[in-house]
Amino acid sequence: MDTQITIHHIRAMKDHGERISMLTAYDYPTALLMDQSGVDMILVGDSLGMVVHGFENTLPVTMDMMIMHSAAVRRGAKRALVVGDMPFMSYQVSLEDAKRNAGRFVAEAGVDAVKLEGGLRMAETVHALVEMGIAVQGHIGLTPQSVSAFGGFKTQGKSVEAARHLLDDARALEEAGAFSLVIEAVPAKLARLISQTISIPTIGIGAGVGCDGQVLVTHDMLGLFDRFTPKFVKQYANVSAVMREAMQAYCDEVRRGMFPAAEHEFSIDDDTWAVIAGEFAIPENQAAD
Ligand code: KIV
Repeated sequence: MDTQITIHHIRAMKDHGERISMLTAYDYPTALLMDQSGVDMILVGDSLGMVVHGFENTLPVTMDMMIMHSAAVRRGAKRALVVGDMPFMSYQVSLEDAKRNAGRFVAEAGVDAVKLEGGLRMAETVHALVEMGIAVQGHIGLTPQSVSAFGGFKTQGKSVEAARHLLDDARALEEAGAFSLVIEAVPAKLARLISQTISIPTIGIGAGVGCDGQVLVTHDMLGLFDRFTPKFVKQYANVSAVMREAMQAYCDEVRRGMFPAAEHEFSIDDDTWAVIAGEFAIPENQAAD
């Protein structure tokens, strides 16, 4: 399919039992490749704080950073649905903040939807954004912006009470008008139950195959993030190794005078060069091209 994917396509995919693929991207060339690869949804995740900017967690990420990266992704992605991730402090303090910042994502970066973290407690915000005409993706389970409150990157929904809360969160987001829902680091059986209980598509990350779709952080699945690899990540390539080898080969060739070769150089007309060489008294062996 070459036409632009909309939230209606994403919802229809669940109705037709078609699994949805989503990956994160933060720049133009990656977004281009994703369109060529047939990815359905691209998330400009605030994970960029860690995997692109090298922060310890996602909390220092700002709206301005998100807008800049999202606009670059939008320029590359003509087919995939692009979702901009609302960073910490851009929607938690007031509804006004949430509306202004979600509006910026759409107006300045051209995203198709925004994502925000939180279930029941965010239902009013989700509803307000949907009323404004902005499509919203929810995010429940392990929500990285609350990592300190969780006491670290831990699996969620493992007790009866916690599982009930997650089901309530999912239903609340569906009722508030979210078009889909990311479920992160939740037992597979519970994520499957949530997916069967609600009508909107669930996109799992560390939530098993029972979700309606899957999302991974691209730097994790390409082997481009050095710090840690969560248990739920499958590494599909070792791009770091390919890049490191290319960089080492370049350094080696520069040091040995093998790069640039003749085919990488620009020439100058012989008569012109003769004049310059004459003026600067360039030695005979350097006077020719
Ligand atoms: O920021 C991000 O990349 C995310 C995914 C982990 C879902 O929120």
